[in-house]
Amino acid sequence: LYSYLTIADDSEGHDLSLFCVPKHYEEDLDSVIIPSGLIKDRTERLARDIVRDMGGHHIVALCVLKGGYKFFADLMDFIKTLNQNSDKSVPLTVDFIRLKSYSNDQSTNSVKVIGGDELSALTGKDIVETGRTMETLLKLLNECHPKMVKVVSLLVKRTPRSSGYRPDYIGFEVPDKFLVGYALDYNEYFRDLSHICILSDRAKEKYKV
Ligand code: IMP
Ligand code: MG
Repeated sequence: LYSYLTIADDSEGHDLSLFCVPKHYEEDLDSVIIPSGLIKDRTERLARDIVRDMGGHHIVALCVLKGGYKFFADLMDFIKTLNQNSDKSVPLTVDFIRLKSYSNDQSTNSVKVIGGDELSALTGKDIVETGRTMETLLKLLNECHPKMVKVVSLLVKRTPRSSGYRPDYIGFEVPDKFLVGYALDYNEYFRDLSHICILSDRAKEKYKV
């Protein structure tokens, strides 16, 4: 099994004023916990590990929307770059599925699945917290009897609420805080933020539904 980058519980992240953040979110964030450059660098390495493991197998890459779209697009770009610059390459097709389980900062018990017709191989995900979303999706995927399913998640949260589920590839292991940015949202806000940031308690109230 592969390792991942651990962000410690006592990590306060980086001062917002050191980075470029949209004006409309300046008051809502405590700090930048993973700058977009670091996300990209780690994603590049995940792409290399995946291509190596896949050998020559065809990959059907399944993006879990909406939170996984940035990570998915960047991961696919790195895989494409590897494909066009080496002697070995893996054929790649893409598909998309939409899951919804969150309201405010709480995971709800129901996981809603919308879309996705050709289900199999590699799924790209934003964040695993309790693991419930991925376990539901994996059950669904296995009904299609794919040859192999591998799960890639950019983030895994260290939380006592975890079911114990672990993805095959992990970008970062993060503290039990609510994170936004790089397509991760709070009630649909903050997807338009490049860095992964810690949401302030004040913002949780401000954008509550
Ligand atoms: P799980 O089912 O508890 O593993 O939760 C997974 C889903 O919850 C993710 O796909 C996200 O949509 C959402 N989620 C969990 N933690 C966070 C977070 O810190 N920020 C934004 N969304 C989160
Ligand atoms: Mg969400």
